[in-house]
Amino acid sequence: MVAETTNEKATSWMDTPPRSPLLRHYSAKLIANMPWLDKLSSPLQGWVNGLFGSPKDASYRIKDMLAGIWLGHPVHPILVTIPIGAWTSTMVFDLVWLANEDDDAMARSADMMMWLGLAGATGSAATGLANWVDTDGQEQRTGMLHALLNGSVTVLNASSAVLRFTGQRKTAIALSSAAYGLTIYSSYIGGELAYSDAIGVNRVIPEAGPDEYVAVMEASDLEPGKLTRVDAAGMPAVLLKEGSTIHAIAATCSHLGGPLDEGSYEDGVVYCPWHNSGFRMCDGAVVNSPAVYSQPTFAVRERDGKIELRRLEHA
Ligand code: FES
Repeated sequence: MVAETTNEKATSWMDTPPRSPLLRHYSAKLIANMPWLDKLSSPLQGWVNGLFGSPKDASYRIKDMLAGIWLGHPVHPILVTIPIGAWTSTMVFDLVWLANEDDDAMARSADMMMWLGLAGATGSAATGLANWVDTDGQEQRTGMLHALLNGSVTVLNASSAVLRFTGQRKTAIALSSAAYGLTIYSSYIGGELAYSDAIGVNRVIPEAGPDEYVAVMEASDLEPGKLTRVDAAGMPAVLLKEGSTIHAIAATCSHLGGPLDEGSYEDGVVYCPWHNSGFRMCDGAVVNSPAVYSQPTFAVRERDGKIELRRLEHA
């Protein structure tokens, strides 16, 4: 007997009848109907990646810094709190001022928060760009919309700041109020990128790995200098033999899950085949972005002609 279906022709969950939450449903539909965003994204990504250069270029250190290697955490989600918080304060101060237009202190406070938000938006944009340049597909398009919305918000708020300066405060408040509405929707989209699409999430940390030594391969089969993938109790690991030392780190790249064993190896560093993140084989530390989280590592030993691994606690 064939099961009855009501969405036989559906190609994705967006084609199914709207269910709660409606915002998510219609937001996804909106983005799906904006293929023109891709025409902007690809050239922009190519141009920005050209500016950053390759991991061996000095200019790439700017990308490393914006991504957050120095912090061991993406910088973007920290910086976005500045414009959102500052512009929320502007809204509150503006409302109080509207109730008493003689309150100059309130007007000055709103203006200060407006400028603080504009400064924070600049840092947020730069760090967000560093996260976005290595995305593709749905995440690339969603990120492009997020950027365009934030750009519009910044233009509206910059105009509002100028109007405040020239004394046209009520028009300025109208502009910043419109900008605030866009900020809320853009923040929602940014949340979708992080919480639903897992951009910026450590892709390897959910993998458990063995607490006790497990045999993964015959020691005689491991070729020196060759990245070799093994299964350590369900957790993929990549091995490298250098002289008499065998290094082992997780094979799933912490950035977006690329297979490190299919990457390249040079001077103690394995480079991910997907977006070129570099990790030291000896301790899994990040050498260059876009990854910011280091790779879990394994203790390695040889017993009875077999290589055995045990997962080490992750920093
Ligand atoms: S998946 Fe992006 S660098 Fe590895």
